[in-house]
Amino acid sequence: MNNEKYIAHTLVEYYQHHRRDLPWRTTKDPYKIWVSEIMLQQTRVEAVKGYYARFLKELPTLTALATVEEDYLMKLWEGLGYYSRVRNMRKAAIQVQEKWNGEMPKSSTDLLTLPGIGKYTSAAIASICYNEPIAALDGNGLRVFARLYGIEENVLDPKVENMIREKMQRCVDYTVAADLNQAVMDLASSICTPKASAKCEQCPLASICKAYQDGMVERLPVRLTKSSKKSESYTVLVFRRDHLILLEKRSDKGLLASLYGLPMIEGELSKEELHTYLQNDTCKIQEIGNFQHIFTHKIWNMKAYLIDDYEVPVEDSIWAKEEEVMYLYALPTAFTKIVKEIYTQRER
Ligand code: ADE
Repeated sequence: MNNEKYIAHTLVEYYQHHRRDLPWRTTKDPYKIWVSEIMLQQTRVEAVKGYYARFLKELPTLTALATVEEDYLMKLWEGLGYYSRVRNMRKAAIQVQEKWNGEMPKSSTDLLTLPGIGKYTSAAIASICYNEPIAALDGNGLRVFARLYGIEENVLDPKVENMIREKMQRCVDYTVAADLNQAVMDLASSICTPKASAKCEQCPLASICKAYQDGMVERLPVRLTKSSKKSESYTVLVFRRDHLILLEKRSDKGLLASLYGLPMIEGELSKEELHTYLQNDTCKIQEIGNFQHIFTHKIWNMKAYLIDDYEVPVEDSIWAKEEEVMYLYALPTAFTKIVKEIYTQRER
């Protein structure tokens, strides 16, 4: 069984045995599911329960919502905060009356055209109510999947989010979308919780969870807003001689102080610039690739080169056997990624 198939089946089985008993799980009425999903966007399940019951008692149908007085609507929402959520709901309800004959659209694509309904909410409604095979991925799902696959990149980067969505989608395609999406919600809320509170011993996916295997659960997912971390770029040099790699002792100040590391230069140099920097036209320089390492307060963007046939005039350094680099010298992860890539490229 491949990974996604295994994840899909395990999650759905988990859901069938452990699903939370929630008021909105006794219905497939898209209006009610919509109300629950909007309320749950910024509010905890326990807090939502009471509001959900009262809201639906007062406004049991989409028509009731479309025609309600604004002041009364605000009153029903009082305490939940983020009032634009409910203003948009009313706008959307009016649109459904005008454009959709009063019936909620049934596909995620059509739902997405309504105010306040984004990718996650449209997928949640369409999968839960109509079992459309589409992944509903929110911040909780990002946490679950970033951990399962050990994704160390920033999950707030749309490219990374889409990559995760594709993985979740592959899982959805193996099973019942409504169950899989809600299984992820439940796992995220009961087991795969943020930071150190995760209860990995209870997780049905622990045996294949990369973050759990590699001790990265607390570190993942990485969520970086633009301003929260400073980015630095470096050129990393892997000098090689007779199957030995040059490691140098880092300065006793700053990040990774006093540890062995690969030599690095500030800024991203091209091959030509590197020849100039090394004052050597004849050494062999091969690009290994671009790497990123995320520290608590910093991001290193690294361009790495493999350099053969160069006499290195450096102090405080050692020539280490390639196979010893990782195990003997406790090379920090920021660099082991680069060394591993050299092995991978050689095996190809
Ligand atoms: N969080 C967001 N949507 C949810 C749902 N339908 N059930 C439980 N938790 C949720």
